[in-house]
Amino acid sequence: MRSLVDRREGLSAAADAVVGAVFERSEKDDTFPRSLLKEDESTKGLVRAAWEKKEIRGKPKEITVFHRPDGKGRILIVGLGPVAKFSAETVRWAAAAVVRNLKGKGARTLGFRLPAFVRESLTAEGAARALADGALLGGYEFVRYKTKTEGTVEEMTIHLGDEFGREEAALKKAFGEQAELLDTVLWTRDIANLPADTATPERLAEEARTLGKEFGLKVTVFDEKKLAEMHCGGILAVGGGSVHPPRLIVLEYPGGSKRGRTVAVVGKGITFDSGGISIKPSLNMSHMKFDKSGAVAVLGILRAAATLKVPPRVVGVLCCAENLPSGSAYRPGDVVRTYNGKTIEVLNTDAEGRVVLSDGLGYVVQQYKPDEVIDLATLTGAEVVALGDNTAGLVATDDKLAQGLLAASAVTGEPIWRMPLTDYHRELVKSEIGDVRNSTEIPMAGMLTAAAFLETFVGPTPWAHLDIAGPAYASATTYKYQPPYQNLGATAFGVRLVTRYLIDSARS
Ligand code: BES
Ligand code: ZN
Ligand code: ZN
Repeated sequence: MRSLVDRREGLSAAADAVVGAVFERSEKDDTFPRSLLKEDESTKGLVRAAWEKKEIRGKPKEITVFHRPDGKGRILIVGLGPVAKFSAETVRWAAAAVVRNLKGKGARTLGFRLPAFVRESLTAEGAARALADGALLGGYEFVRYKTKTEGTVEEMTIHLGDEFGREEAALKKAFGEQAELLDTVLWTRDIANLPADTATPERLAEEARTLGKEFGLKVTVFDEKKLAEMHCGGILAVGGGSVHPPRLIVLEYPGGSKRGRTVAVVGKGITFDSGGISIKPSLNMSHMKFDKSGAVAVLGILRAAATLKVPPRVVGVLCCAENLPSGSAYRPGDVVRTYNGKTIEVLNTDAEGRVVLSDGLGYVVQQYKPDEVIDLATLTGAEVVALGDNTAGLVATDDKLAQGLLAASAVTGEPIWRMPLTDYHRELVKSEIGDVRNSTEIPMAGMLTAAAFLETFVGPTPWAHLDIAGPAYASATTYKYQPPYQNLGATAFGVRLVTRYLIDSARS
């Protein structure tokens, strides 16, 4: 979708559909809202009539469509819900609801009247970014395997009008930056949505190489031979059961400022997680094509870092393998030696994410001595049970890093919730015959024992772990409960969040 900023008032420009907004009407004050005066004028009183007949109620996602008597196209009024709850998230919902509503209905161009989405609590810039989020994310669909598709909105314009015409330059910059970031988010979704027959570890390496060429990033791919020389026993064990061999992929973005800090971003890239010998039940096993979402998010974060030229140096690491049962698969009871020399007792081959991450984390900490490490992983079912499928679990050994991520989350609207990591959890992952075990004796606090396991391979470096098992994708049964800017399939959760963190944490 093309995205533009226009000084003019939306109703005087001629888009196929022009969008205004209204808050939920209150029982006490039923007077016709001032925010709809312009729409009312353009429809010669039809909007006021609809208000009086209580057709317009202003509920979230409510859309009322009018046709202009002058034949210049449609006017849409989108509901924003109660004033007291208004935030950037409200605007994302509204823009996404509009784009979805127009799907297959012959509207090619779409204009938003910016003033209708600005309040004291949300600046014009914040509203412009949120409109971009909602429209571009909400308009996304994974269409690669569809032979027929319905027409969608191809162009969105933010109309500043008299109110914000003076801020044109600043708004153009912010909106352009957001549109660029969103282009990366959709690119990330396109890769994360690929099924496992196509998105093999080598294919992810190929995507990384192409990205490197396009944006001037240094890319190194370690194949199975190299991984054996490096003693990456974890990633080799997990990938051992598949004909698609594992890959450790490293991307480096040099950073926008000299002497800046280095942030390592590490992702779990299981291209398919059958559970291996500890095989999963067949119900919903297809979802496990999304078990690479952390690694694919890392690709997205590096792409965003390079296009937006974020200040810190960023090292991305993708730990990619396919977890399948076969004669060459790793087994419960095996003990593997990882990159940094620590050993893992494998008790459950389905707890494979932490096993591949052990090598990636150990490698990046030793080779790059980063100032901070952030990992993203669809790591545990326990995360989904604890927080639901819209929220990621955050475990951090550094308060400043945790606060920075929580602040970024508040801006982007990707919910995260910090969870504790204590000696109790550390005790549960100690192994009697090796250093750590990949599953515990008692099925409790699964998200946190997984984090305790990972911590062994990070050591004292400030570290934040994002368990994105829930929010990484929306399934056919769950996506109706998700925000309307989230369609079926991969969400690219974490890309906007970590990119925002990389930009904002450099300022403070
Ligand atoms: N990939 C799964 C976790 C997962 C579950 C991601 C649901 C997305 C949605 C992970 O590899 C896994 O199977 N974890 C096990 C760990 C257990 C065996 C210790 C789990 O959570 O059950
Ligand atoms: Zn698993
Ligand atoms: Zn997994």
